[in-house]
Amino acid sequence: MNQESPLVLIMAAGLGTRMKSDRSKVLHELAGRSMIAWVVEAARSAGAGRVVAILGHQHEQVKAHLDARYGAGVIGVALQAEQKGTGHAVRCALPALEREPDDRIVVILSGDAPLLRSERIAQLTTACAASPAGMALLSTIPDRPMPYGRLVRDDAGKLLRIVEHVDATPAEREIKDTNAGFYAVRLGHLRADLATLQANNAKGELYLTDLVARAAARGGATAIDAPFEECSGINDRVDLAAVDAAARRRINADWMRAGVTFVDPAATYVDADVGPIGQDVWIGPGVCLRGKTSIGARTRIDVGCIITDTTVADDVNLKPYSIFSEAQIGPRGQIGPFSHGRPGTRLDEDVHMGNFVETKKAHLMAGAKANHLAYLGDASVGSKANIGAGTITCNYDGFFKHKTTIEAGAFIGSDSQLVAPVTIGRGAFVAAGSTITKDVPRDSLALTRVKQAVVEGWADRFREAQARRKNRDGKSGETKVDPIDPPTDPGKPGDK
Ligand code: UD1
Ligand code: MG
Repeated sequence: MNQESPLVLIMAAGLGTRMKSDRSKVLHELAGRSMIAWVVEAARSAGAGRVVAILGHQHEQVKAHLDARYGAGVIGVALQAEQKGTGHAVRCALPALEREPDDRIVVILSGDAPLLRSERIAQLTTACAASPAGMALLSTIPDRPMPYGRLVRDDAGKLLRIVEHVDATPAEREIKDTNAGFYAVRLGHLRADLATLQANNAKGELYLTDLVARAAARGGATAIDAPFEECSGINDRVDLAAVDAAARRRINADWMRAGVTFVDPAATYVDADVGPIGQDVWIGPGVCLRGKTSIGARTRIDVGCIITDTTVADDVNLKPYSIFSEAQIGPRGQIGPFSHGRPGTRLDEDVHMGNFVETKKAHLMAGAKANHLAYLGDASVGSKANIGAGTITCNYDGFFKHKTTIEAGAFIGSDSQLVAPVTIGRGAFVAAGSTITKDVPRDSLALTRVKQAVVEGWADRFREAQARRKNRDGKSGETKVDPIDPPTDPGKPGDK
């Protein structure tokens, strides 16, 4: 095993015209992670010492993205103001490597080829270290005709040069081995050879691939075969979708090997930065796990759940179509179907949150239950409190948000409004249908609804009055009748 840690350059200055986008090509995402971040992650997993991105078009946005993701300046940036070819791009990065010794190995990757595995980068480094010519590159055999550079060899199989597709003769285009576009070169050779590159070719560019002919003079660069799936680059949104699908297949296969069940992996969307996912997790079809979500062991995530930037603990049962973002779900939660946990939702252990319950900045403590139709915003719900169907925390007065505190063991009757700021004391009851505007002391009952009135025989009298009216006025019955106060008064509350 090679222990050398390579310097890594990522070429990403190109415009990406065919993406037809205002955004730099390398900022487009696959499985929720930008193209360039896929390449950076692979380089870092391969033990890269330093990573320098060569940027041109929209370099400010790309740098801002790298700084936000990895920390300011962690990924170095070299500017290639004008794109004069891949050789020119790497030349622009040399000043950033000024202090590095000639024998350092430099790995050169492409920002638009995100599926290269870190093992392949390690292989390139090892091969370069072993190569007397101080150069190695990846070759690949595409599964369809691609306008790639062809590897030209002598009869003994020694690599002589790379000819670009546009410069190749018909006979050279018959060559199956193509240049995948990933290289490892000793920095000394890179310095010497880049200085002498010339743009005498069809494109009028400085070709990095011309370094292969220089290496031939030193004994020949080593070519390593790589699967085409890892090498395919992205030029337009059709490529993007195809490579995205391949990325997702890889992610799901890795999780399945780690002990996660997918009912239908082709219809399950797990972002690249999701994890860990515990053993014996079960994931139904149509589930999307996004952002920095993590899932505890034995948790079940049923059909159609969309979970974003959320921590889900062990043994949770997420029933179908539940949506959570920027939330925490504690152990053994019984959630959904159709629960909506918005940012700042924190559910401790054994919480029940049922259908059409929406939470925002709400902390439900151990064993609290809100099983049906409720809105809990800016709220704290104590352990084992019970929130009845139709409960609403009125947290917003049009200007400010206010807090509702429901203490442990409180019982909120159905269809109640809690007008914040307000506190419902420990063990208190709020009667169904109440509008609570003042604090409720512990273990008391608060009730704000009008007393119920019963008028016996009223319904019969009402029906008779209506029937008489209908006979008199016909079906069109133009006169409106107030059912509470019909024309022949069937009696008022309290009447005998
Ligand atoms: C390159 C190779 C070709 C190989 C193919 C594999 C050369 C001359 N040719 O061709 O042999 O088969 O990749 O995909 O290298 N870039 C810059 N600055 C530039 C030009 C390019 O940063 O001035 C970046 C691009 O953004 C891209 C990468 O370098 O990420 C490759 O450039 P691209 O124009 O796609 O090269 P190809 O013509 O595809
Ligand atoms: Mg290309």
